[in-house]
Amino acid sequence: MKPAILAIDQGTTSTRAIVFDGTMEVIATSQQDLRQIYPSGGWVEHDAEEIWRATLHTTREALGTAADKGFAVQALGITNQRETVVVWDRETGEPIHNAIVWQDRRTTPQCDRLRADGAEALIAERTGLLLDPYFSATKVAWLLDNVDGAHAAAEEGRLACGTIDSFLLCRLTGGKVHATDVTNASRTSLFNIRTMAWDEDLLALFGIPAGILPEVRDCDAEFGMAQLAGSDAPIAIRGIAGDQQAALIGQQCFVPGEAKATYGTGAFILLNTGEEIVRSEHRLISTVAYRLGGELAYALEGSIFIAGAGMQWLRDGLGIVETSSESEAMARSLEEETDIVFVPALTGLGAPHWLPDARGSIFGISRSTGPAEIATAMLESVGYQTADLMTAMASDGMEAGTMRVDGGMARNDWMCQFLADILDVPIERPANLETTAVGAAYIAGRATGLIDAEFRPARKGGEAARFAPAMEVDVRKAKLARWQDAIAATKRFSG
Ligand code: G3P
Repeated sequence: MKPAILAIDQGTTSTRAIVFDGTMEVIATSQQDLRQIYPSGGWVEHDAEEIWRATLHTTREALGTAADKGFAVQALGITNQRETVVVWDRETGEPIHNAIVWQDRRTTPQCDRLRADGAEALIAERTGLLLDPYFSATKVAWLLDNVDGAHAAAEEGRLACGTIDSFLLCRLTGGKVHATDVTNASRTSLFNIRTMAWDEDLLALFGIPAGILPEVRDCDAEFGMAQLAGSDAPIAIRGIAGDQQAALIGQQCFVPGEAKATYGTGAFILLNTGEEIVRSEHRLISTVAYRLGGELAYALEGSIFIAGAGMQWLRDGLGIVETSSESEAMARSLEEETDIVFVPALTGLGAPHWLPDARGSIFGISRSTGPAEIATAMLESVGYQTADLMTAMASDGMEAGTMRVDGGMARNDWMCQFLADILDVPIERPANLETTAVGAAYIAGRATGLIDAEFRPARKGGEAARFAPAMEVDVRKAKLARWQDAIAATKRFSG
């Protein structure tokens, strides 16, 4: 049997298992969609047991296909939706509640209170993050405060908590390992990114007992062995990274100044800042990019909450788009430029505005407005939001000369061209858009010697595409000005 690497990519809307060979060629894939649970306005949950079942199902299927093709998996990398938290019983392994998802806004009042108490500066200084319900700490505190007996159980050491990587790791190792990696830890608001350890002051601030937290390890540490159906031998878990950091690695942004944008449910731009923690003056966040082979790198990040999720809403909520991929043809069908501006603040606004209570708006509709105009405005909103983040990065002195894109939505050529036009920088798109899984497999493959550290997987799998800016300056400026007006009006409307 030939050696192979398995990546588990547990995302917001699906769970995927992908097997790669030693040259990062895809051997087998399996995917299962994940149910979104909306118990109340602004609340978003996942059933952690469903995530676990999907992990078992997809890994079994992918390992089976790989075995049929003569491959035996020898290393496993995990990548995951970040910030989403699970609290579980150490004894039984059972979650005490649904996972609270990164998009969930229920802890806005707690964040407001902490801000009023003047805590934001301390949080920003220690963690590189801002005070927003997006990050994990207030979600964990909410679970401990609202699930019967949870606080006492946590104090007595009977509960464990973690981001999704940590929950899956615990299950995969039969409850033996309760750990996470530095990238996931850096999203919790509890991790000091300078000392690279849980921060006692922050634990006290959020009211979280240290004993429930996982041990933090490097991305390419030894995380234990997984016994999976479809594999004869236990598999070494040798990689963990949050999905956006894994995409940064998958796109090989290893040099300071290199940046990538991943268009999934949301969109996340990460720019490698090397050993330096660049503190944004424009409400971006500083986060851990990776610690690989002992080398620590930081990133500047801009987080957009609604990208692909906007198209999903047009499809599932409004029913005006049949499939997300149809949006490209819809945009091309328009005979003239649309004046419509869609501010997709469906779960508040992320960077650089950070307004959890903001709600979406559509400007400029008329009797002739139809599904194609709305879908096009949704695609354009992704470009405008990206432009806001690039402007903020440039104002912080970090200018990206090109942007590497990936994620499902980046398949849309029309959107990639619009991105190049509105950002006025070339857009590069690798042939394999699954860069998140590539990144996770790369970490595990490198750690086990199955792939060479110098190997550059983004160049694999056929020709990459490049989109050059082609929009006239006046048109771009006018469009960006309309977007800024729409953002200002949305902010006013949201109070
Ligand atoms: O921070 C949230 C992010 O990690 C979610 O990514 O790809 O599941 O939308 P995705």
